[in-house]
Amino acid sequence: MTSITTIIEDIAEEMRGVSERGAVADYIPPLACVDPAKFGMAVIEADGQVHTVGDANEAFSIQSVSKIFGFTLALDLLGDDLWQRVRQEPSGSAFNSIVQLESELGIPRNPFINAGAIVVSDVLVSHYGVEGAQQKILDLVRPLVSDKSGITIDRNVALQEKETGFRNAALANYMRNFGNIHNLVPDTLDLYFHQCALTMNCQQLAETGTYLMTGGRNPMTGQAVISPRNARTIMALMMMCGHYDGSGAFAIRVGLPGKSGVGGGILAIAPGIASVAVWSPGLNRHGNSLLGTRALERLVQRTGWSVF
Ligand code: DON
Repeated sequence: MTSITTIIEDIAEEMRGVSERGAVADYIPPLACVDPAKFGMAVIEADGQVHTVGDANEAFSIQSVSKIFGFTLALDLLGDDLWQRVRQEPSGSAFNSIVQLESELGIPRNPFINAGAIVVSDVLVSHYGVEGAQQKILDLVRPLVSDKSGITIDRNVALQEKETGFRNAALANYMRNFGNIHNLVPDTLDLYFHQCALTMNCQQLAETGTYLMTGGRNPMTGQAVISPRNARTIMALMMMCGHYDGSGAFAIRVGLPGKSGVGGGILAIAPGIASVAVWSPGLNRHGNSLLGTRALERLVQRTGWSVF
């Protein structure tokens, strides 16, 4: 069989030739300046082999991919009680939509849309405080990564999103009115924006995903990060909700649990086989990386890694 390195080199070569690359997110000012020509991909196989191509070692803003980590911590803390605050269903709506919150009494459909991730942030603020929760997120991610340099929370990205994040402020205030935000809205949003401002490269992002690939363990240390049941829950929600109203198309085209971010990153997990991160900053109309999705589609076509 062709080696994974050869396959992702072929994919990067194909992506270099694509002129329609989507639009970079411009509603968060620092993201508007990212070069749309960037493309990186990293694959970590279950046996520890690492394959990278293109800009896989350049740090980027992982944005909503970070919702996996906040959710991991909150699920570990609250277990099934978390489902009283956020549901487990696809929304079929845009990532920043407010409409369902009115008829559904301030309970978001799932932890990956913005409203749901803000509730998750609120849970973490209640338990750890704003600063403590940021540290918890870093403490979750860093031990999974071999070279931790450059894994940071970009304070400038967080600050600029805070100054322009009126939609998220609306979501948080609306949910607080229903009693589903327990802390002061600025505190909960502060954590949410800082979590979204997590910065790392493709190789590091693929390494962070390895605890899902292995069913909850850090493959480097053998230590449990979360329970196997929670790992399955997270991946099930990634499959159903990780790409918002583009989740169905992603499941059909790629067939792996995946989570996107408006920075152009996607983390996708082939359970028991590989953890894959791809970065291409141009987005499709759902806010998911256009070429990132295509690259994952190609990878799965060549490897047969779809779970279906
Ligand atoms: O809250 C926001 O809008 C951003 N910080 C994150 C959104 C995002 O990444 C959506 N994903 N594709």
